Amino acid sequence: MLWTDTLLQNTVREKFGSLRLVVVSNREPYMHFYAGGQVVCERPASGMVSGLDPVVRACGGLWVAHGSGTADRLVVDAQGRVPVPPENPRYTLKRVWLTKEEEAGYYYGFANEVLWPLCHIVFTRPRFDLADWTAYTRVNEKFAQAILSELQGEPAVVWIQDYHFALLPSLLKAARPDLLVAQFWHIPWPNPEAFRTCPWKHEILWGLLANDLLGFHIRYHCDNFLATVDRELEIRVDRERSSVFHHHGIETLVRPFPISTDFAGLSLQAESAEVKDAARRLQATHKLQDRRICLGLDRLDYTKGIPERLRAVDRLFTKYPAHRQRVVFVQAGPESRVHIKRYKELSNEITSLVEEINWRHGSDDWTPILLLRQYLPLPQVLALYRLAEVCVVSALHDGMNLIAKEYLTAKNDGNGVLVLSRFTGAARELGQALQINPYDTETFADVLAAALEMGEEERANRMRALRDIVERNNIYRWAGKVLTTLAGTRVESRSRGMVPVR
Ligand code: F6P
Repeated sequence: MLWTDTLLQNTVREKFGSLRLVVVSNREPYMHFYAGGQVVCERPASGMVSGLDPVVRACGGLWVAHGSGTADRLVVDAQGRVPVPPENPRYTLKRVWLTKEEEAGYYYGFANEVLWPLCHIVFTRPRFDLADWTAYTRVNEKFAQAILSELQGEPAVVWIQDYHFALLPSLLKAARPDLLVAQFWHIPWPNPEAFRTCPWKHEILWGLLANDLLGFHIRYHCDNFLATVDRELEIRVDRERSSVFHHHGIETLVRPFPISTDFAGLSLQAESAEVKDAARRLQATHKLQDRRICLGLDRLDYTKGIPERLRAVDRLFTKYPAHRQRVVFVQAGPESRVHIKRYKELSNEITSLVEEINWRHGSDDWTPILLLRQYLPLPQVLALYRLAEVCVVSALHDGMNLIAKEYLTAKNDGNGVLVLSRFTGAARELGQALQINPYDTETFADVLAAALEMGEEERANRMRALRDIVERNNIYRWAGKVLTTLAGTRVESRSRGMVPVR
């Protein structure tokens, strides 16, 4: 059975009846900006947003998120609400406003200088700071208040996204034990050795254990979470059921749900005149018409393995000179979390690596690496996927990595090769991709050469097998599985005679 938006909609209706669906995340799905004296609306570069937006469009409901666009306040009502998407509204976005101090402590500080490096384990040390923890706690309380006052006592399903809100489930359940609460952790969960360094580890674990259901992309992250709870708390972890039992008979299910793309919608859009036009313009602007394009597309983040990728490209042109003059490596994507020192350092490192590699190999009429360090709207992203013969995902550690799946989704002509880090969640499902260890430059370069030299038939066969997987395990199936499992928690606890007291 192929999951679609309609099937998801019907399933949600059947499982939850008229219960209201509330999705919560830090990053909002639509941001309003001032540009050239006008207000424009953009969908931010975020795997979480590209996954969730089609789901909430299908189910309807309320999405609560931090209002961070420069013109966000201009378009909302008195409660901070605005219908989205602007051209054809399908759900309501409620914006929560944060002060600069709150954003600095909660988002830049605790979420992205503690939890992000702690969970990814890529040799960037977390920076534990009491003031950031306090801001994180306050912002979680602020979101809880915003949700509770929107609900006004109404029954609801609250679906929290990500590591910005580890305390939100317990705050919601303390006020409203009747709410059904699930959380999806979009990044990896580390091993207990790494997690035990966090001074607020118990508060975070208790916060998360207030969820009825806690989801990760892959089984390995669920196992890490269960092992962490087992080691840190005096509580019953049931490995067979993959769950944690609390006092009062409360249970938190911990399950893997690998996120994916809106395969049908995105592959259709990749064929649109707008995307074909964008591809022609990109080729013309950057003189790419006669080149073979390899693509790397990421937010500039140290977990994505961008310098490692550039070093492999450098090695490719040294070791396999036949690819000089013909191949252009396009490294695209916007700056990210720019107020954090490590991100500034990364940005500088990338600039100087690109300059050096282009100087070493380039010629009058050929620039080996094209750096497009900017936000690209979806049609341009899809245009790049269409143009790319090879897409390189070299994350050093990643929960899933949706770029890998988006590339496959957009490759309707079957003519493309995915080079994929084996340290991504996606590598577990996508066995037919050419898998690499991004730290191993020599082999990485060999695999790039193999991707460029792969015969037509092998390319097509691999691509067909990979696309089949993404099509079957699409985003509607992902959401359907999460929400039906969540609905099941209530039925099960009733049938086991459990009394949910929190
Ligand atoms: O998918 C992980 C994630 O952290 C999302 O939560 C987030 O929206 C995305 O990456 C981009 O990061 P940010 O929202 O900090 O720009």
